[in-house]
Amino acid sequence: MLNDLIYPFLRPALFCLDPEAAHDAMINTLAKTQHTPLQKLYAQPRVDDPITVAGLRFPNRVGLAAGLDKNARCIDGLAALGFGFIEVGTVTPLAQPGNPQPRIFRLPEREALINRLGFNNDGLQAFLNHVRQARSVGQADGVRLGLNIGKNAVTPIERAVDDYLIGLSGVYPHADYITVNISSPNTQNLRSLQADEALDALLGALSERRHELARQQQRQVPLFVKIAPDLDEGQIDLVAATMARRAQDSQDGAWGLIATNTTLSRPGTTGRLGEQGGLSGAPLYPLAREKIRIVLGAAKQMTVIGVGGIFEAEQTRELLQMGCAAVQVYTGLIYEGPGLPGRLNSRLTGNDAAASSGL
Ligand code: FNR
Repeated sequence: MLNDLIYPFLRPALFCLDPEAAHDAMINTLAKTQHTPLQKLYAQPRVDDPITVAGLRFPNRVGLAAGLDKNARCIDGLAALGFGFIEVGTVTPLAQPGNPQPRIFRLPEREALINRLGFNNDGLQAFLNHVRQARSVGQADGVRLGLNIGKNAVTPIERAVDDYLIGLSGVYPHADYITVNISSPNTQNLRSLQADEALDALLGALSERRHELARQQQRQVPLFVKIAPDLDEGQIDLVAATMARRAQDSQDGAWGLIATNTTLSRPGTTGRLGEQGGLSGAPLYPLAREKIRIVLGAAKQMTVIGVGGIFEAEQTRELLQMGCAAVQVYTGLIYEGPGLPGRLNSRLTGNDAAASSGL
């Protein structure tokens, strides 16, 4: 593939730039070139390996994790990379700048990133305007779209539910599934929403609103809760039990879990240990896998999407064999380039022809 030949040359140039500048350049390029003949430079054939996830048909099991395209500006460009599903956001009700720069750091020797972006985004209205323009979603056999919602930094944590309800109502008509992000480490107190009573109150309010939306719009949309790898076994058991109660009561669509977000711990890293924020990429995989194993044991009836440090088809296979319905990548894409989803998928289906021309 052309893009497989280009990325080994492009990556050193991108890595000369400040990480956020490189990220912005990539998003701008995708946004400008999607729907144009230039899309061919990075497009990949999508591996057809359909599965059903939370009642939805996914064309394959490798998705893009949230946070790369926070404003949903290049859904079609990203879909052209061969993902089975794309998750965009996290979006908050109002636009907000996020934390001061610099706030993304590369650890190239560990194939990792640390970020403390803090939900920088253009707000719900701009997000929805972009989502409405996406052409590759909404077809029966097309890529699936996940919309990921969060809370504004200025909203006190006691009022967090209000922000999630605004997000839920806004994105509901456009989403194949919705992710409730309560696990970013970069918004103060956000992770406290993963605790028993706060989670129960949040899920109760979301459940009630989803019931109304499902009735009004005659359409059920699965809700996923995204959790941190820094929860211990007892905390994961509580999250799973709280969700299981909701799932049992719910007539309005599936509940599921996305595990995991970035970690505040620093497994196996050297250097830049002083940078605050969430760690993603290769060193996260063993921790994410361990927490996913606990999640799968605790949330037996629920759909689980696995994410965290996936670079290799073997890791994808491992998570699927453990019981994940599908997987997502983010940092792997930055290090490996646009050939990654095709390569993970091809090796999963045993068709290595595309993979053997990989990077
Ligand atoms: C993220 N991630 C993330 N997750 C989320 O739910 N909402 C978000 O806005 C973001 N933002 C974000 C920014 C950056 C720069 C990174 C690296 C990550 C977390 C991401 O979706 C994923 O859960 C973790 O990064 C772990 O997967 P990888 O990156 O190791 O494949």
